[in-house]
Amino acid sequence: MTATAEGHGVSLGMPQLPAPPYPDDVRARLEADAAEVVARYPDSRSALLPLLHLVQSEEGYVTATGMRFCADVLGLTTAEVTAVATFYSMYRRRPSGDYQVGVCTNTLCAVLGGDAIFEALQEHLGVGNGETTEDGKVTLEHIECNAACDFAPVLMVNWEFFDNQTVESAKRLVDQLRAGEEVAPTRGAPLCDFKRTARVLAGFPDERPGAVAAGGSAGEPSLAGLRLAKGEEGARVVVAPRDPDVPDSEEPARHPSSHDAPQQTSASDPENPAGPTAEEGE
Ligand code: FES
Repeated sequence: MTATAEGHGVSLGMPQLPAPPYPDDVRARLEADAAEVVARYPDSRSALLPLLHLVQSEEGYVTATGMRFCADVLGLTTAEVTAVATFYSMYRRRPSGDYQVGVCTNTLCAVLGGDAIFEALQEHLGVGNGETTEDGKVTLEHIECNAACDFAPVLMVNWEFFDNQTVESAKRLVDQLRAGEEVAPTRGAPLCDFKRTARVLAGFPDERPGAVAAGGSAGEPSLAGLRLAKGEEGARVVVAPRDPDVPDSEEPARHPSSHDAPQQTSASDPENPAGPTAEEGE
């Protein structure tokens, strides 16, 4: 059940209460994990964010049962837990796929191809924003800037980076995910499914072979930006390809930039805003 603001049809994201409890064995296991997390903080309520990841790792999304569990463990009200769980877009509010494919459609990624990629993936997968493919493998959504603008346009799969994407590479990526092929991100740890990712985000060791070593360091575009910011290199001038039919006097002004010229892209999609779009069970 969801509460709706009178006359506006706005979902307030309230969980259905009382929520069914976890089975005894699951609760006992989660309580042991939760105790480990809570012990890291001087104030137990500070453990709410990792605990939400923990319950998400159990069911693949934050259920009403999971929120009630967090409230019980931390001595909070379910309203307090709900307020946090519905604020951050990293917490899912309904069942989703094994792989969450996020296409950055913030300004820089959008103009460099993110809008076109998002539109192409919707058509290729036959799903809209926040929807999951029939096989339960891929949930597609557009996401906000992930501070990887120097690798634009980027995709995030379960929060791992796939840099400098194109429409074709993005289609190939989702096809591989759906086929169960091993897929490695451009940088960072090897890919794993969403539940395992959530457990790592809850603060438990990443036990996949090579995962920690794969962290790496900043890429060359980031380091080039750093050198520019420090004044160690002169600004590079990048302009759009010249149009031979346009006289020089009418060429747009040159501007310093570390990027190539903007690409032709589709329009943004105001019908599908980023962030949680529906409540559990919808
Ligand atoms: S705009 Fe896409 S990562 Fe910053």
